[in-house]
Amino acid sequence: MIGRKGDYFTNVSVGPLFGQLLVAQFCEIWERLGKPADFVILEQGAHDGQFALDVLEFAQKRRPEFFDALRYRILEPFPILEQQQRRKLEAFGDKVEWPHSLEPFTGIHFSNELLDAMPVRLISNGTEKFVGLDGDKFVFVERPVDKTIFNQAALESIDQIAANLQRGYMIAIDYGVLDEEFERNVQVRARHRNLDSPFEQIGYADITTSVHWRSIMQRAQAHGLRVAGFTDQHHFLTGIISQFESGDRTQSLLANSPKAKRELQTLFHPEMLGRAFQVLALEKNVVRETNPLVGFKFARQLDESS
Ligand SMILES: C[S@@+](CC[C@H](N)C(=O)[O-])C[C@H]1O[C@@H](n2cnc3c(N)ncnc32)[C@H](O)[C@@H]1O
Repeated sequence: MIGRKGDYFTNVSVGPLFGQLLVAQFCEIWERLGKPADFVILEQGAHDGQFALDVLEFAQKRRPEFFDALRYRILEPFPILEQQQRRKLEAFGDKVEWPHSLEPFTGIHFSNELLDAMPVRLISNGTEKFVGLDGDKFVFVERPVDKTIFNQAALESIDQIAANLQRGYMIAIDYGVLDEEFERNVQVRARHRNLDSPFEQIGYADITTSVHWRSIMQRAQAHGLRVAGFTDQHHFLTGIISQFESGDRTQSLLANSPKAKRELQTLFHPEMLGRAFQVLALEKNVVRETNPLVGFKFARQLDESS
């Protein structure tokens, strides 16, 4: 479960400000693509549909021209979540669609904490951990393996997105590392605490792994996508906020709202979610512009040689 009463927070569960700020980035992309009349935001890992609701409500109120062009699609493998999403987004009628598979689209593929939730294989130093049974208990069993890709599922999802994105961007927000060797382990969380083993609270605990951003970029590049930007969430949101037409829209988002200010602090602060999360944007069939997307205005130059 996500949120204060659940197992962990996400950017989305912090409050509506995250989606509201993202609207500025989405809208800039729509403008860059020449304001297509049929512009898709395709979200994957949409959970209960809260991000979609925050985006649609805000776009409708503040960016009506963009809202008119927008079609929101959610690719949801879990029927129970689709039901929740349908209930939450009922007011938007057929503006929101639930395709059964990825279909060709122009626009943005968006995800927040999707890649970290994908299955991984626990491989290190030539051995892989499998799950076995010892009596009635689950245990790890180690077996030697040849070179095998640990994050195959995440890479295959990039293949799918690349094959269906006709023109536009993929924006993925998640926690991970760019190049560094990292502990290829899973993080198990329940009730805002780390658990020692994935065999605790099976079916209730949240099991994730850090995203290995470089392998995601390389897979996308192999399909002809370009890296349009990579930065941490702190710098990403700073870029967006700086562009809010001389600050007045941010002012009006935050004005007299201690709640919105608290949300911004949580999303933004380096010791809260600001540094823990990174943002990757990939682009396909987009004319390269001199200026980066607004969210990457303050991003450091990425070393593309690694
Ligand atoms: C950590 S939650 C993030 C939820 C939401 N994006 C947020 O930020 O609050 C991960 C979500 O990814 C979903 N998920 C995992 N694998 C998926 C897949 N292959 N396709 C679509 N959703 C998936 C899970 O059901 C869950 O809703």
